[in-house]
Amino acid sequence: MSEKKKVVLAYSGGLDTSVVLKWLQVEKNLDVIAICGNVGQDDEDLDFIKQKALDMGAIAADAVDMREEYADKYLTKALAANGLYENKYPLLSALSRPLLSKYMVDVAHKHGADYIAHGCTGKGNDQVRFETSIKALDPKIEILAPVREWDLLTRDDEMDWAVAHGVPVPTTKKKPYSVDDNLWGRAIECGVLEDPWNEPPEDIWTISNSPENAPDVPEYVEITFKEGVPTAVNGEEMNFLSVINKMNAIAGNHGVGRLDMIEDRMIGVKSRECYETPAATALIIAHKALETMCLERETLFTKLNLEHQWAHEVYFGKWFSPLKQALDAFMAETQRFVTGVVKIKFYKGNATVVGMKSDVSLYDFCLASYGAEDTFDRSAAKGFIDLTSLPISVWAGVQGAKVE
Ligand code: ARG
Repeated sequence: MSEKKKVVLAYSGGLDTSVVLKWLQVEKNLDVIAICGNVGQDDEDLDFIKQKALDMGAIAADAVDMREEYADKYLTKALAANGLYENKYPLLSALSRPLLSKYMVDVAHKHGADYIAHGCTGKGNDQVRFETSIKALDPKIEILAPVREWDLLTRDDEMDWAVAHGVPVPTTKKKPYSVDDNLWGRAIECGVLEDPWNEPPEDIWTISNSPENAPDVPEYVEITFKEGVPTAVNGEEMNFLSVINKMNAIAGNHGVGRLDMIEDRMIGVKSRECYETPAATALIIAHKALETMCLERETLFTKLNLEHQWAHEVYFGKWFSPLKQALDAFMAETQRFVTGVVKIKFYKGNATVVGMKSDVSLYDFCLASYGAEDTFDRSAAKGFIDLTSLPISVWAGVQGAKVE
């Protein structure tokens, strides 16, 4: 029976977390429990990663399929809030970190571990998200961030350390970009993208066609929503996870969801980020459209403001904060009314809403129509205008409005 203290590590199988896994044993004299979560990232053989962790001396390793939980408990909330940071980025990295953190805290409790470790650098957002989430779930657990602490400044230093300590190093050339991906899309940064004047090279994109290479004929897709959650595609019922997979394929094929932006990181740095988020982009477009049909006006106005704040909280790592949870409660209340079908036309990089219907639509044909069916009471308009303009009219009588 080992006397050593235990640490739970978020392990991805890559060079950084592999060096961390060894470093925690060598430098901190800890027993490592490696955790690898499947949140829908591409081409990762989780059993292989698990074995790699054990081969490097981890006392336990676990690979967990978190996709359904990620879709049902995290991405439904992101969609309810139409979560877009800086009005653009669907938050894919910010959404997966709290789930991974929750899992790590659970494992730490199960194994009686004193520490949780991650392999994030000291310059990014993900360190903040992991640590804020962990502190929210268990303020007593101590967090270790070796990459922030060690003196392996360059990749060569890291490779040398790895070789000296028997950590398998990648034989292929260093990947030209830093990528994070899951069901909600891919984030691509670094390399030539660091110069904002450079157009993103085609090889950064892996789950979408370029609009130029997308099919020459449009494709129409109907998405059914029940209380804010997509439940069917083209009439075929499926769970949210399957909807996401299907929409990634369809929207990606039509070149939808490629984003390129300068983003404001938490730590104050602006960074150039590219994302490809076919399903997230298409589903948010469809969901936002249905809300315009099903939400009462003032609720919709207020929601638009709160969506911005929701995205801010989540980007800033505050998934488990009281404010974010209160905002979730507001969003959930509004979603009771968001039921219907949205028809999207996909064509050459665009996802355009071309039709929608709902049994609980607030669009009233007789009120909206200029035709014979019109039931709107025009005679009420004069009184409405007199009263709504009264404060301005009084003010103008005293001060006169500025013309320029
Ligand atoms: N900038 C994005 C965010 O903070 C994506 C970060 C992704 N990480 C990466 N290693 N590429 O949410």
